[in-house]
Amino acid sequence: MTVVVLLAAGRGVRMRSERPKVLHEAAGRPLLDRVLDAAKAVAGSAGRVVVVVSKESAAVVEHLRAHPDVRVAIQDPPRGTGDAVRAAAAAGALEKAKTVVVLSGDVPLLSVETIRDLVDVLTKDKKAAVAVLTATVEDPTGYGRIVRDKRKSFVRIREEKDSSNGERKICEINTGTYAFDRVFLEKALPLLTSKNSQSEFYLTDVLSLALKARRTVVTVSGDPASALGVNSRADLAVVDSILRRRNAEAAMAAGATLLRPETITLDDGVTLGTDVVVEPFVTLLGKTRVGSGSVIGQGAVVKDAVFGRNVVVRPYCVIESAVVGDAAIVGPFTRLREGTDLGEGVHVGNFVETKKAKLHPGVKANHLTYLGDTEIGARTNVGAGVITCNYDGFQKHKTTIGRDVFVGSDVQLVAPVTIGDGALIAAGTTVTRDVPKDALALARAPQTNLEGGGATYRARKSAGTKKTA
Ligand code: UD1
Ligand code: MG
Repeated sequence: MTVVVLLAAGRGVRMRSERPKVLHEAAGRPLLDRVLDAAKAVAGSAGRVVVVVSKESAAVVEHLRAHPDVRVAIQDPPRGTGDAVRAAAAAGALEKAKTVVVLSGDVPLLSVETIRDLVDVLTKDKKAAVAVLTATVEDPTGYGRIVRDKRKSFVRIREEKDSSNGERKICEINTGTYAFDRVFLEKALPLLTSKNSQSEFYLTDVLSLALKARRTVVTVSGDPASALGVNSRADLAVVDSILRRRNAEAAMAAGATLLRPETITLDDGVTLGTDVVVEPFVTLLGKTRVGSGSVIGQGAVVKDAVFGRNVVVRPYCVIESAVVGDAAIVGPFTRLREGTDLGEGVHVGNFVETKKAKLHPGVKANHLTYLGDTEIGARTNVGAGVITCNYDGFQKHKTTIGRDVFVGSDVQLVAPVTIGDGALIAAGTTVTRDVPKDALALARAPQTNLEGGGATYRARKSAGTKKTA
């Protein structure tokens, strides 16, 4: 049985954040969730996952409520990685385990296969007490270095802060990922001391204790990406861009065209159908789904939206929690807010804002319009500058517009109000009462034309200009 101990009690001071480090997000997911996925896969249904948190990490404990299958052990106060594993042991979390895998909550790119390899290596070697994942990196700054003797055998892990100038040049680093023989680990943990520059109990010292006990330490060399530990915002940015590049590559492999993919931001939960075209500088976030054949124009920012097939989103739209039907055309410069539901073939154009708006198939609202708390029947045309006045300062009210209605330009619909099917609302009308089916609604101040008034005005103006000249 394998127990996976996930270390997440560190203060993450180098992030300079109010938020616990492991809850910072890369490609739209908290670091912790990525490591938890791997931990659960390695533990399997027979095993157990324990997350070590500090008393200060209430937000992490709260976050873990969504994972009832995960145990929580409190480390109070956090006094190093070795002390963190002690906290898990003290909570009885290691009981009956054959192997204890230790992962860091801040090393998010590690793959399940890599961890499984580590466990295999350990269990196959009877003398081995620990298998540790190492990586050879260009810049080892901040990591513990793998110190070897002349015969290249493992000697110890030296933390950067405790290392000599010579040791600092070593580019093979400790990824912070280990598989331990549980019986040995439980014997070694009480022997750890905090005699080092950080006055912490280092888990890495367990490896030296293994050699002392005439057991072996097996090193497994992994790829440098899987070693990336997030200690600073700069590290987080590196991990984020690696994940987003992977997402872009996966989308392209699945049949989407990404124009200038390096400028496109895709969260993990985004799915793109075949023959989707995503133009440069598009940001697709959350659980956004795009149906096949759709085009997402340059600069669009989209979160948690669902697009049908052959949708065209023209450049620079902002879309959140909206549903867009097949062959609809949106934009440029459209804002679709939460609760927007556009039917098949709907056209919503520039400077149109929608919120809680259900537009049935074929509706057109192409220019400068606000549609909030409304339902609009099929084929209705909404003219330029139409506004649903949905808020009276106290409450939101609904505007219901029927099928085949023609709403002229610059109409205000003062909600609550209902417009019957086939009605015609004259341009400039302020609608304050319901309009029956097939009726014409007109509410305008009568117009007066003063003959020659324009000419008189111009004459006065030019006379004035001469005087001042
Ligand atoms: C650690 C390793 C280092 C390795 C690096 C890989 C030690 C002593 N050093 O250093 O060799 O190269 O990871 O990324 O282990 N944590 C606790 N309780 C604590 C302290 C830390 O749970 O008291 C957790 C942190 O939340 C984090 C992980 O352990 O998830 C690693 O801690 P961190 O402080 O980031 O250690 P590093 O300096 O990165
Ligand atoms: Mg770290």
